[in-house]
Amino acid sequence: MPQAVVIIGVQWGDEGKGKIVDYYASSADMVARFQGGNNAGHTLVVDGKKTILHLIPSGILHPHAKCLIGSGVVVDPENFLQEVEILRKAGIANLEERIYLSDRCHLIVDYHKHLDAARESKKAGKIGTTKRGIGPAYEDRASRRGLRVADLYNESAFEEKLKENLAEKNFLLKQYYGVESVSMESFLAKYKDIARKLKPFVRDVSAELFQAIDEDKKILYEGAQGVLLDVDYGTYPYVTSSQTLPSQAALGLGARVPKDTLFVGVIKAYSTRVGEGPFPTELTDAFGDQLRESGSEYGATTGRPRRCGWLDLVAVKYAVQVSGIKNLAITKADVLSGISELKVCIAYEYQGKRIHTIPADTSILSKVKPVYETLPGWNEDLTQVRNPQDIPQSLQNYLRFIENFTGTRINLVSTGAGREAVIDIQKAF
Ligand code: GDP
Ligand code: IMO
Ligand code: MG
Repeated sequence: MPQAVVIIGVQWGDEGKGKIVDYYASSADMVARFQGGNNAGHTLVVDGKKTILHLIPSGILHPHAKCLIGSGVVVDPENFLQEVEILRKAGIANLEERIYLSDRCHLIVDYHKHLDAARESKKAGKIGTTKRGIGPAYEDRASRRGLRVADLYNESAFEEKLKENLAEKNFLLKQYYGVESVSMESFLAKYKDIARKLKPFVRDVSAELFQAIDEDKKILYEGAQGVLLDVDYGTYPYVTSSQTLPSQAALGLGARVPKDTLFVGVIKAYSTRVGEGPFPTELTDAFGDQLRESGSEYGATTGRPRRCGWLDLVAVKYAVQVSGIKNLAITKADVLSGISELKVCIAYEYQGKRIHTIPADTSILSKVKPVYETLPGWNEDLTQVRNPQDIPQSLQNYLRFIENFTGTRINLVSTGAGREAVIDIQKAF
């Protein structure tokens, strides 16, 4: 049994990572987020009750699990505190003792959200972001203008940095985008209050994790978004602004991952994408609408309808390769029940030639034609299946096809939104 499991998304996000993390978290001492921000929407369904998490790690519904937010995560403190309140009202106890927020996290503040929204309202270059200020906050981190959680507790330095930042951001907001600017006075008062409320959660996450690893504690690392949204290896520029690959788990938490770590990529049995950007297997017809309805494919963060399509194995194989993943968990197999023939994309055709990977020039992806292999579907209702021996033959074949094509092993099949709807083929913990 490994000491740690790293869970990442292998497509364009929303693969069902939250559900898988919640399932594995029953055996974990700690669940740690290492990148992204509240652009993420991770859905857990326990005893029929739905909880959507954006920043708080998906182990929070297990009372024994500590939940860490590492320095690689950009934190909107208002969103963080709102999420904490929702959980408190839902009866989750000891949140201050269980949630550890790194003092090195960069803050998403009002001007980041205004800039994100202002850029998105321009027609050209629209990415279809979540408008949560993610890109502008990561930009400030890289350009060394960011405000970090620790800065909240050094009033004079915070004020000094803010003054410089506001001069630049307000110029951009007012003069370039023609939108409302942010006032220094209201900002300072607001963040003084936020600093006080945030304090009980703030810790040196790197040191806490280092100690836990040393004490042989079981650690679960929770990725957000997916490989195809990675800022370097995704379908650039239609990506998010962080690294989503498993190697980010160590960087985004400031501690090595244990030697004995299992890396699990989560895929959906078909493909979805929210926002703009190329999507070769997208179905814009009535069948795509049917998939959206039967899979409840609406964004957990923004409520936007997700674009739906057949499983793109060229994209999955590429994602598996760049992330070094050997094991997969597949979700939403139940959604495909009753479809007589299933298509999976095994190559792209472009200018008379076949392509077998995601090209660096992703503009090509919007012009390729998918080459499909057709596999027989299954009619059985999977929602009560728990035993690997009871997996219907056609689904077995579908899983084997994915494994052979991508060079991976499928460890787990998810057959419903609920925590219990899992066929655990190869136990992780
Ligand atoms: P994440 O961002 O990767 O955590 O995924 P989301 O929570 O954004 O989206 C996944 C959606 O699928 C949520 O509504 C989940 O409740 C749901 N879900 C997860 N696994 C399954 C499954 O195996 N079957 C079905 N029908 N729904 C699932
Ligand atoms: P989870 O963790 C799906 C997408 C946005 C947009 C692009 C950039 O729930 O899987 P951003 O706001 O990050 O600057 O937007 O990335 N995106 C996601 N799509 N699931 C997510 O997270 C996403 N987080 C960002 O729709 O296309
Ligand atoms: Mg999501």
